[in-house]
Amino acid sequence: MPLPAPPGNPDGQAAKLLLPACFAKYKLFLLTGYYARVQGVSYLLEAFLKKTECNCQIVNLGAGMDTLFWRLKDENLLPRKYFEVDFPMIVARKIHNIKSKPPLSKPIIETHSGDSLLIDSHSLDSSRYSIVGADLRFSSDLEEKLKKHKLDVQQLESLTKLLLFTAITFFSEGGTVLSHSLPEVNMADRFGQIMIENLQRRQCNLAGVEVCRSLESQKERLLLNGWENAHAIDMMKVYSFLPQADVKRIEELEFLDEKELFEQLMQHYCICWASKDSSNLGNVHQHLRNDPSH
Ligand SMILES: C[S@@+](CC[C@H](N)C(=O)[O-])C[C@H]1O[C@@H](n2cnc3c(N)ncnc32)[C@H](O)[C@@H]1O
Repeated sequence: MPLPAPPGNPDGQAAKLLLPACFAKYKLFLLTGYYARVQGVSYLLEAFLKKTECNCQIVNLGAGMDTLFWRLKDENLLPRKYFEVDFPMIVARKIHNIKSKPPLSKPIIETHSGDSLLIDSHSLDSSRYSIVGADLRFSSDLEEKLKKHKLDVQQLESLTKLLLFTAITFFSEGGTVLSHSLPEVNMADRFGQIMIENLQRRQCNLAGVEVCRSLESQKERLLLNGWENAHAIDMMKVYSFLPQADVKRIEELEFLDEKELFEQLMQHYCICWASKDSSNLGNVHQHLRNDPSH
């Protein structure tokens, strides 16, 4: 069964208010790939929220200008509390936008109850949404800041483990932990080698590239780090699950004509997720058509 039509409005108001105007000038694969990534992760995220009946916490590590809070609020799918972490400089920019743009601040105020809402230049803490400025490489500092923002750490088996590999991480009741990430994959083939060389030419060494050999090595990495179940699918597969009418619309918007190159690129990124999960919450992908990992 293909994925259901994408939820909400992908060109939503929050995105317009948070993203720089120059974003519209990015071309081709970048935006089409971004679209596939957002839809793929959204699908898994929403399946998780429905399974937990929103009785969970979400910690979005490296959230950047993500507009997830506003989208989940619109869809009545807010978790018990949603946390975001990014560098203090990025967080300061996001908070400035929130403070100065009522369509962004109003939903935060509406969902807040109790003591007064805390908002300064580097952090925001409301009943349902919290933004923390921290460097993910310093996990004790991060843990302290998240606790101050009332992250219920009793739900976590190990905060440090989560920081190792998450782009977006979910915590639910009963110690369940589900994690998503979007790393490279198939890096041992010729195309992968060219990607690595291109990065090296820009003085960027891809840390941990050895585990990016295949989908299997990505799953192994998660299992070796203490997760109980792991799944991985490449982005081309994710793309094929998306509603085809919507895919056609996006491809036309982007004038996507170099299909072969796009497909190769998509085969070199994946979504992988893992869980520690007595109630099988990690198995959120069961409706994906042709999914090889279940
Ligand atoms: C590729 S962006 C992804 C943004 C968002 N999660 C998304 O999917 O659109 C990566 C984000 O991670 C943040 N980031 C990278 N390294 C970080 C670190 N060490 N500490 C905190 N944030 C970090 C960057 O500032 C950036 O906003």
